[in-house]
Amino acid sequence: MKRNILILITFLVGLLIFSACQSKPHIGLLVDNLQQERWKKDMALFEEKVKELGGTSEVRIADSDPDKQLEQAKELIENGVEVLVVIPVNQTKACDIVNYAHKNYVPVISYDRLIKDCNLDYYVSTDNIAIGEMQAEYLTKIKPSGNYGIIGGSKVDNNAYLLNLGQLNILQPLIEKGDINIVFSQFTNSWSLHEGYEIINEFITKNADIQLDAIIAGNDALAAGAISALKEHNLDGDVLIAGQDADIAAIRSIVAGDQTMTVYKPIEAMAYTAADAAIKISKGIAPSNMNITVHNGKRLVPAILLKAQIVHKQNIDLTVISEGFIEETELEKNGKTK
Ligand code: GAL
Repeated sequence: MKRNILILITFLVGLLIFSACQSKPHIGLLVDNLQQERWKKDMALFEEKVKELGGTSEVRIADSDPDKQLEQAKELIENGVEVLVVIPVNQTKACDIVNYAHKNYVPVISYDRLIKDCNLDYYVSTDNIAIGEMQAEYLTKIKPSGNYGIIGGSKVDNNAYLLNLGQLNILQPLIEKGDINIVFSQFTNSWSLHEGYEIINEFITKNADIQLDAIIAGNDALAAGAISALKEHNLDGDVLIAGQDADIAAIRSIVAGDQTMTVYKPIEAMAYTAADAAIKISKGIAPSNMNITVHNGKRLVPAILLKAQIVHKQNIDLTVISEGFIEETELEKNGKTK
């Protein structure tokens, strides 16, 4: 009898261990907000890849609230996620997420935006300095001299500073030559259309005597706000405008001649890379493609930085449409064909 019970217990323990090994990796994704259309795409691609790789994912949206994001991190850890992928609302406040996750043996991958000043595990992003360079290079090739304005991105997002570094890499020599004059340059509180509008509206209202030649905006929402302010002052089409993210509205503005260019981030590759890394880490395997390190103020974080592409009027078909990022019909829907 005793022997039978022992065999039964051994069998049950074995079954438990077997099913634990068989259980699907559970991955958490924390998203800043769904205001900018791109995050929906990042999210969907990430979830799709995790599923394809045999895992399950759980997503939370913080609605731009860093405290809410910390609570959501705690909730996902409570729910048993083995790896957390975070699009931080705030570059430093998100350290609380990393510290809490580590206390619970959960590694953290920072997605697109770097979490600074803590022991972050991995970082998956695009080369944001190169994006700033692309924007400034494209506009200065068209207008190598004149009055330029810069609407930087969110003050609490490291990407905003990297973009600015890249922009100045190109602009600074032209500023020193006296060809380009920076008439304003300011960071914003968020990446919102509203702030783009406010900055340009205020500038034009207060500086009627200054001709604005170009605006470099941190993303397409800020660029869209700038365009609507220019329209109100009948200046649309006169000022070069660079943005970022290849939002559908921005592509339509490029087609209409209101925006000069945008930058298309490799969202699919970024989301797939993060999903793949998360699944590997959950199985105790180090992700193989983190081929550089990025200093986050505390440590050298293993990272991968992918390449972005410029989108302008002539290459919309060859970039965002041919890669399936935007459907051709979405452009036509607006009544604006190429
Ligand atoms: C930034 C990112 C930009 C843009 C922005 C929100 O962190 O670098 O590409 O997506 O967030 O619009």
